Amino acid sequence: MTFNKIAVLGAGLMGHGIAQVFAAGGKSVAIYDPDGEVLAAAPARIREIFELLELDASGVDRVELHGDLGEAVGDADIVFEAVPENLNLKRKIFADLMALTKPEAILASNTSGLPIGDIGAELEDASRLIGTHFWNPPHLVPLVEVIQAERTNPAIVEPTIELLRSVGKTAVHAKKDVPGFIGNRMQHALKREAIALVENGICDAETVDLVVKEGFGMRLSVMGPLENSDLVGVDLTLAIHETLLADLDRSTAPQKLLRETVDAGHLGMNVGKGFRDWTPEQADAARKRMRDHLVNYARARLKSS
Ligand SMILES: NC(=O)c1ccc[n+]([C@@H]2O[C@H](COP(=O)([O-])OP(=O)(O)OC[C@H]3O[C@@H](n4cnc5c(N)ncnc54)[C@H](O)[C@@H]3O)[C@@H](O)[C@H]2O)c1
Repeated sequence: MTFNKIAVLGAGLMGHGIAQVFAAGGKSVAIYDPDGEVLAAAPARIREIFELLELDASGVDRVELHGDLGEAVGDADIVFEAVPENLNLKRKIFADLMALTKPEAILASNTSGLPIGDIGAELEDASRLIGTHFWNPPHLVPLVEVIQAERTNPAIVEPTIELLRSVGKTAVHAKKDVPGFIGNRMQHALKREAIALVENGICDAETVDLVVKEGFGMRLSVMGPLENSDLVGVDLTLAIHETLLADLDRSTAPQKLLRETVDAGHLGMNVGKGFRDWTPEQADAARKRMRDHLVNYARARLKSS
């Protein structure tokens, strides 16, 4: 399979970053968004990413804008859907894509939470449908989870992974279409325990964050949890699990503390309070810290590639 023409549906937060990834990788990219203003703003937003990453911004010239879906996807070899997280909207788009794309084009959804099988449930033939879960911001975070749903043709998985790797992404294969795929399952297992620690009075929210950032979190970007088990000895993990697992939180619904925090309107940095209190200066500093970290990492990765 060759992928010369890429189409991206939705030029929002994820879509414009996904488009930049492929344009930077030398591909022709067609973007479709029904919102004319968002569409028109895409080239400038994409150029900003090229400049941020100290890349040759002429790559923006490989991006075409389309206000018509059929024109955007007609000659695409693969389509990345990044429209709002709404099941009916995504179902309608993939039904339209079946009629508007080449019969061999791969159709990929960037859904963060909807099962790929549900998105394709009404399609007679869902063999071309696959999940490609980019992480935010897609131009800075290397990971893309490629999700093989029950009806996905297994033959399209490897070419999709190869395409993503060819433009510098770290593409991994989720062999089953489970909720949260791989990364969000682990992330939310950690959040459940973090909330339980606060709810049960063991420590406050600030302490939870410090323990991660100044403790085991320091290791995580250079050594994953299973590599770490191998480092210290898998028997040690077994011994710890024998005593610890029965005591960990096993809530099967959102915890009371989370619900109460949301019900109180404490929605996070944007309103000055979430699990923790935020002045506007503290919130800006936290956002900058995250952004600088991701940008520095992405620049270093590009230099070493
Ligand atoms: N934001 C994140 O952190 C994140 C991370 C991973 C995955 N995702 C997923 O990516 C998808 C897009 O999220 P986002 O944050 O970019 O949303 P967004 O709201 O920023 O952008 C969505 C864009 O889609 C456009 N749109 C609406 N209807 C459309 C249609 N019929 N065809 C084409 N475009 C249409 C909108 O005009 C908008 O510009 C969602 O499924 C989301 O769950 C988001």
